[in-house]
Amino acid sequence: MRSGTLPEIELHLTRAPKPKPSGAGLRFGRIFTDHMFIMEYEEGRGWHSPRIVPYQPITLEPSAMVFHYAQTVFEGLKAYRTADGRIRLFRPEMNVKRLNRSCARLSIPPVDERLALEAIRKLVETDSGWVPEEEGTSLYIRPFIIATEPHVGVAPSSSYRFMIILSPVGAYYPEGLKPVSILVETRDVRAVPGGVGEAKTGGNYAASLRAQEEAKKLGCSQVLWLDGIHRRYVEEVGSMNVFFKIGDTVVTPELGGSILDGITRDSVLRLLRHWGVKAEERRIPIDEIREAHRAGMLEEAFGTGTAAVVSPIGELVHAGDRLVIGGGRIGGLTAKLYDTLTGIQYGRLEDPFGWMTDVGGKA
Ligand code: COI
Repeated sequence: MRSGTLPEIELHLTRAPKPKPSGAGLRFGRIFTDHMFIMEYEEGRGWHSPRIVPYQPITLEPSAMVFHYAQTVFEGLKAYRTADGRIRLFRPEMNVKRLNRSCARLSIPPVDERLALEAIRKLVETDSGWVPEEEGTSLYIRPFIIATEPHVGVAPSSSYRFMIILSPVGAYYPEGLKPVSILVETRDVRAVPGGVGEAKTGGNYAASLRAQEEAKKLGCSQVLWLDGIHRRYVEEVGSMNVFFKIGDTVVTPELGGSILDGITRDSVLRLLRHWGVKAEERRIPIDEIREAHRAGMLEEAFGTGTAAVVSPIGELVHAGDRLVIGGGRIGGLTAKLYDTLTGIQYGRLEDPFGWMTDVGGKA
């Protein structure tokens, strides 16, 4: 099912549409829309029976392999409503490609990328009335795959389910655009070279929870991970890639297999280079960040992610020291990146890179 005509995605509409929430005060990822996409995989048959059905609980055997060995991958992207009522997706083809890269790492059979894109488009079109219109809100799209074979032996599953669910969301951080404090984690590590750090798989997030709980106790929203070998080089922040502005140069950790190849990360790098700002992808020792801070050169820091967009970092907590960045206020370049990215996404600005895709459908 790699080329040729796509199988038809059957549409089974709900008879009991739910009340839609007001966009004002929406939290992240708590409410789900009327429909979901689902298809199954069996060995010998491949992916089959793609359909959109009413959002509902699913039934799995307690022995389903996903519960035991975490053979699962996921994605996150958003649909945005423009001022003139159109609904648009941001670089969805990048998410689908990354989904298949994660599948390859987790020994999950790949999905047909055109079918996955059409499933996303058609599901969002079906629930287009759920795309909120208030400033800063969007419809979060969560595609994911789980191993469903009932078997407690360790081996790739012979059956899977691919699903997509939708959630109208506001800001990921309750702080919104207020700069957050981040704890530099020195005990736990998130990933090691050769591991699954660059795959979007649930285990990476489960392993991050202990450090995140500790960070919360210190008043921090997230942790900044250091590399798993030297415990020295900056990797990423909780659910975001990380950037620092040191003097007139922006630096971000290079992709090396242990960090997520973020789509917002890539978009920010492209915007910076388009504006002629020097942007480097390289190894960044935490000592370099501390030294830049001491010398007054650490002007801005921010995280990027689909959920988090561009989130200013106002403080790093490391080895008992609190390093305040940019007076704890959002920096000029961080604000420009946020305004430009969201301007393109919500159709307030030109889309010079052709990043947006219209979904069609009416509100
Ligand atoms: C996203 O930014 O979409 C993510 O997947 C991060 C998530 C853990 C909320």
